[in-house]
Formats: sequence, C-alpha cells, structure tokens
Amino acid sequence: MVREILTYPNPKLREASKDVKHFDESLHTLLDDMYETMLYKNGVGLAAIQVGVALNALVINPLNEEGEQNKEDLLEFINPQIIESDGIITFQEGCLSVPSVYEEIERFQKVKVKFFDRFGKEHAEIYKDFMAVALQHEIDHLRGHLFIEKLTYLKRKKFEKEWKKRIKEKAATL
Ligand code: CO
Repeated sequence: MVREILTYPNPKLREASKDVKHFDESLHTLLDDMYETMLYKNGVGLAAIQVGVALNALVINPLNEEGEQNKEDLLEFINPQIIESDGIITFQEGCLSVPSVYEEIERFQKVKVKFFDRFGKEHAEIYKDFMAVALQHEIDHLRGHLFIEKLTYLKRKKFEKEWKKRIKEKAATL
C-alpha cells in the first residue's frame, strides 16, 4: 500500500526513531509499504519516519548500471548503525520529504554499517560511494535530521525563502 510521505517542515520529521524490537508481520508490512511508496514517488531511498512511523527502518533501491531500478537490488536496514567511516565524497542529494530540491552535500565516502534484516538476523557490511551517501542520508532521517541542515547559512536562507514561496503558491492554487 502506498502511504503518504511527510514533507518539510512537518515536525514529525525531526523526531528521533526508536529501535525495532519485533521482527514480525507488521514490520514486514511497513517495509513492503515503504518500498511501494518509494517506487511510486520515484525515490531511491526512504526512512520509516517519512511515512510517519518512528522506527529505525529504511529501504534503499539503487539503480543498476543501465539506470534501471530492480526489486532484486532492494536493500532493507533495520536498526542500522554506522560503526566505521572513511573518506569524503560530495554528491547531489534530493529527498522525497523536500521534493524538487537538489543540493551538493559532503558525506563519508565509505561506511561500515551494522544492521538487522527483516527477519532479525544481524549483518555488518561496507558500502561505498552512492550507497554510503544514501545510507548516511537515510540514517540522518532516523535521527530526525534532513539534508538541508547541512547547507551553508546562505544556501539555507535561500532555500527557506523559496520553500515558503512555494508553499504559499500551492495554497493559492489549491
Ligand atoms: Co530523504
């Protein structure tokens, strides 16, 4: 089922998520819905808090070399934790909770992540480049943070001005 995605400045997006304790059917339904919602909105990553559920769960479905998004490449991370990080990479990021905004953001180029799968099995994996960026972006969501917080003061001010204007225009056109 496609769920509604919360958008900035919804205060729920600032909430810190809690660890998943039960790897049960309701978790599986949540993950399945997150995948459907992400695909429906043409996203490559989604955190549970973006559909209003404050649980440490996220999905990432990277594009393959042909630029296609296949379900076999879908990755699910429950209670993820970055345990090692290295290098720097700058990448143009966007977010389904801040639609149509793309900004260059600096992140670690490589991360080692400890996480659980949907069945409660623990894993530790190293990810680089796009996957490292996506993981850091989504894990930030779980801690209540958005990528726009990483903008410089001036860029953030410009963003806030344009965003307010956009919300106003939306309200006017109904
Ligand atoms: Co996002």
